[in-house]
Amino acid sequence: MTEKVIIMKASGLCKSFANNGGQNHVLDMIDLEIYDGDFTVIMGASGAGKSTLLYALSGMDQPTSGVVCYKEGKISGLKEKEIAALRAEEFGFVFQQAHLISNLTLFENVMVTGYLSKKRKEKEVKERAKELLGRMHVEKAMDRLPSQVSGGEAQRAAIARAMINEPGMLFADEPTGALNKRNTQEVLDLLTGLNEKGQNILMVTHDMKAAIRATRLLYLEDGRVVGEMTMPAYRKEEARSREKQVEAWLSSMEW
Ligand SMILES: Nc1ncnc2c1ncn2[C@@H]1O[C@H](COP(=O)(O)OP(=O)(O)OP(=O)(O)O)[C@@H](O)[C@H]1O
Ligand SMILES: [Mg+2]
Repeated sequence: MTEKVIIMKASGLCKSFANNGGQNHVLDMIDLEIYDGDFTVIMGASGAGKSTLLYALSGMDQPTSGVVCYKEGKISGLKEKEIAALRAEEFGFVFQQAHLISNLTLFENVMVTGYLSKKRKEKEVKERAKELLGRMHVEKAMDRLPSQVSGGEAQRAAIARAMINEPGMLFADEPTGALNKRNTQEVLDLLTGLNEKGQNILMVTHDMKAAIRATRLLYLEDGRVVGEMTMPAYRKEEARSREKQVEAWLSSMEW
């Protein structure tokens, strides 16, 4: 078996919030490695610190202490401007809500993010935006405003936007949390397809249907990683047996 390559690493990661004169320790000395090629899923009870961990790893928020490294470089300690540049070039984000800019079409929303990076010329950004919206099955809606498309279409456009700069890591926080069953499956199929082509994904979810897409699952409890499980790449025929496997793992975590 080939050795796994570490793409992200957190050491001694802590995050505390002031709370009625005391401190609420939301991340409690997390040591964590994320491997290249994985579809990593973080689960855990509400309030366990999942979103906080995602924000700290992605540089969206600063940890109270500890170090985050991406590839060979440290994110912690970079200036805000440098972190913003790294995020624009290397990271993509998908949230529960699509958060598209309301007065821009889906196509323009994707392009604007492409312009933030210096990786491509304008013409190339346009071509890639179109190609991605096609891959996400929203080409028909791409000239409409976010208010004129369905929630599923908006979320698929948000994934296209997250992918426009070929991110080294795609972060997703409950990306299917606001979608119906059909759109959930479609978004998960798209994410699985991206991972199959090598896209690194780090996703927080409560949803069993989403969790079974993982190649590696982490369980967070009170700001600590207390459990982990790896699985082979997702195959549709095995969905039921994966569900059973994840359910058994979660119940051993007292989920
Ligand atoms: N900016 C903040 N200020 C104060 N407390 C915060 C802040 N952000 C998060 N917290 C607290 O940190 C804890 C963890 O929050 P977090 O959002 O990371 O949980 P989560 O695991 O993502 O939960 P959920 O599944 O409900 O999204 C919660 O108790 C929350 O109230
Ligand atoms: Mg959360």
